[in-house]
Amino acid sequence: MSGRLEAGSGAREAHAPGARGVAGTIPLAVPNVGALERQYVLEAVESGYVSSVGPFVTEFEDRFAHRVGAKHAVACATGTAAIHIGLILLGVERDDEVFCADFTFVGSVNPIAYLGARPVLVDSERLTWNLDPALLAGELDRRAAAGERMPKVVEVVHVLGQPADIGPIVDACERHGIAILEDAAESLGAGWSAGRFAGQHTGTVGRIGCFSFNGNKIATTGGGGMIVTDDDELATRARHLTTQAKVPDVGYLHDEVGYNYRLTNIAAGLGLAQLERLDDFVATKRRIALRYDEALRDLPLELPPRVPGLDATYWLYSVLLAEAAGRSRDDLLDHLGQHGVGARALWRPLHLQPPFADVPVVGGQVGDRLFDRGLSLPCSTDLTDGDQQRVIDAMRSFFA
Ligand SMILES: Cc1ncc(COP(=O)(O)O)c(C=O)c1O
Repeated sequence: MSGRLEAGSGAREAHAPGARGVAGTIPLAVPNVGALERQYVLEAVESGYVSSVGPFVTEFEDRFAHRVGAKHAVACATGTAAIHIGLILLGVERDDEVFCADFTFVGSVNPIAYLGARPVLVDSERLTWNLDPALLAGELDRRAAAGERMPKVVEVVHVLGQPADIGPIVDACERHGIAILEDAAESLGAGWSAGRFAGQHTGTVGRIGCFSFNGNKIATTGGGGMIVTDDDELATRARHLTTQAKVPDVGYLHDEVGYNYRLTNIAAGLGLAQLERLDDFVATKRRIALRYDEALRDLPLELPPRVPGLDATYWLYSVLLAEAAGRSRDDLLDHLGQHGVGARALWRPLHLQPPFADVPVVGGQVGDRLFDRGLSLPCSTDLTDGDQQRVIDAMRSFFA
């Protein structure tokens, strides 16, 4: 089907996660799957352990926990499932409020709605494109002073491989005794190298961290997710809830409503191989980002954040078209589409999504601007130098 799509505005939407897209087009971000993945997946198939019980699942969890520096990792069917369970672990119930970044993929917020809880959307800061610590602190302090209800959880998202400015977020949440869930779906390999959390990986600062291994992520299992935590009890409960709340060693006894959210052994095999290659993937993403930065810096663009101490992976290399360019983001996307470049607009913020149009929003229009002006450029880890040059040439010719 993909080869039949016309380049242009229709093609702008033709991006399933990790999809190759229109034939001849340089894809946005596709999985890098090779011999090692084939070997482990085949091993899983041949062992007969194809479902959610099997040695690769446990090995993947152990190695993942070690890689990110968490005590426990619990593999899930998707990143969305991981967040859903993570919110339950933190005690979120019907009518509770959960503060969540406004500028993110909808998978961050849907689990809040699954629980009948109420999202409150917090705008981004311009520095990191992530949840604005000053807005968050201001709103929490204001509510506390006014004796208003406080949120049960603050959900921080590290978008596009860019860590949030976590120090002041933690300070504000600690001041008010509010738990943090980190949506690190897009930030595997990213972390902090300065400040109170120097040396930590995204997802390990909050009580719960959640990752995604969807097809377009830096490491994929086809579809999958992970919950990480240092809390023994939360980890045990995560395993219980993701396996239908089955009581071990007792015939079909389920002590609460559970979920069928476990990762399969085949998928875990894929994940193990990807994890072994993660350092290379991160290095490649950073190299691609640096080359784009150097080649595009004289154009009327805002380049992605580069904040000392916040070590991004540039999972999806994204730029903002400056207002001074006098043209729209869609003009640029159309131009790139005509040149065979599979670029994509950044997300519409959650407050502009129909299911969340009526929820409270804290702050201004930073997320709106990221959507109006933002687009991601091809940055697969197997992007060739020649293809990257084609993208650069297409970008430059737009402004010529
Ligand atoms: C920020 C963010 N949160 C949550 C998710 C949900 O993950 P999944 O697609 O694995 O359910 C994704 C990605 O897909 C994401 O990018």
